[in-house]
Amino acid sequence: MDSQTTETARKQHHKSANREFPSLTKLHAIETLLFCIVPKESRRSGDEQISQWSHGCRVRIRPSASAQRRRRKMGLGATPMTAFLILVCSSAVFRGEGGGLKLNYYSKSCPRAEEIVKREVVKLYNEHGNTAVSWVRNLFHDCMVESCDASLLLETTDAVISEQSADRSFGMRNFKYVATIKEALEKECPATVSCADIIALSAREGVVMLGGPFIPMRTGRRDSRESHADVIDKDIPNHNDSISLVLSRFRSVGIDAERTVALLGAHSVGRVHCVNLVGRLYPTVDPTIDPEYAKYLLGRCPSPNPDPEAVLYSRNDRETPMIIDNMYYKNLLHHKGLLKVDQQLVSYPSTAQFVKLMAADNSYFYDQFSKALLLLSENTPLTGNKGEVRKDCRYVNAG
Ligand code: HEM
Ligand SMILES: *[C@@H]1O[C@H](CO)[C@@H](O)[C@H](O)[C@H]1NC(C)=O
Repeated sequence: MDSQTTETARKQHHKSANREFPSLTKLHAIETLLFCIVPKESRRSGDEQISQWSHGCRVRIRPSASAQRRRRKMGLGATPMTAFLILVCSSAVFRGEGGGLKLNYYSKSCPRAEEIVKREVVKLYNEHGNTAVSWVRNLFHDCMVESCDASLLLETTDAVISEQSADRSFGMRNFKYVATIKEALEKECPATVSCADIIALSAREGVVMLGGPFIPMRTGRRDSRESHADVIDKDIPNHNDSISLVLSRFRSVGIDAERTVALLGAHSVGRVHCVNLVGRLYPTVDPTIDPEYAKYLLGRCPSPNPDPEAVLYSRNDRETPMIIDNMYYKNLLHHKGLLKVDQQLVSYPSTAQFVKLMAADNSYFYDQFSKALLLLSENTPLTGNKGEVRKDCRYVNAG
């Protein structure tokens, strides 16, 4: 696709995404409310007016620009109606999930909680830059498996098999610094801030440290009392799984193809070990890899049987390795994707269209990435009196 076609596709896409609600009558408000209770599967997706529709049913209705001009002409200033009409239908009523989370959940119980997480994430980033990368991956591995419930952080004991020891967790690092964040919070407000919220908030701050967008996230998640190590292979795709499997996994948590493509943009930071690459290099090089890039990868991973203990790896993005940006998509278009799941995004029309759009427009990528990460961060959290607030993120509370 040449750049002009890409531009046209982008415009068309934005046009459909910015479809306006016709007007602001009570009738429409009621219609919208009804819209919230329609089963998830039968709803249209991709409608930007509806933010977080699969969870909080938060619907924002923005009057058209011409309606706003008319109001101003008539001397009617900004009213809540002309600004935003925000309908919040509690998702707890319609689905048993997402409900219970809210912005600034700790405003009374631990007012400085979010500030402390941010301070610790910045401090850790300055000491070990790659902690920020880990916080982003942690969110995926925790939330994708059953629930955002910090099950990922549980260490192996007599009663628990840690998710960290699963094959899919290969290469995950920096867990010990979660304890640094938790200790700072425990000092300020003991047994108050959950480890699941630490996962969400540290990922949010990690994205910011990596040059990405700030994503307001709700809090109030509680921690599981068990590991879900037994279902990881079902919930988290493997590095070489098919596009249809990858899309169906994400669809099962309310994330469509466009947002799946956006989420994988997280692979614009961090590294991949050779064990996850050799399948594309030996015995013969995967023909979808750019020949020059293949030479580079063969240099990084000179053996078909790399020692998994050896730190042999390649950076995800050689140009901007510590920045979450759309370089990932540009690399894919140049056949420089690292994992099979990355590169195959350009081989299928259903995902390739979004790769092109994101490669061409970083702010569109940030917008979709933010929405997708938010959806992921609210996947069936434990709230209310479910679960517990762990005192030490590594172990369930005694008793
Ligand atoms: C189909 C889905 C995905 C698959 C199969 C996958 C697989 C992988 C693999 C194999 C690695 C390299 C591990 C290593 O060799 O050290 C990796 C790294 C990483 N993944 Fe994913 N991933 C997926 C989705 C995601 C998502 C949705 C996110 C976050 C939003 C994410 C964030 C990361 C990050 C940040 C790294 C770099 C970690 C580091 O350098 O320490 N991944 N992923
Ligand atoms: C995918 O990779 C795993 C190793 O992670 C390997 O055992 C498996 O055979 C590969 N599957 C395919 C279809 O290449």
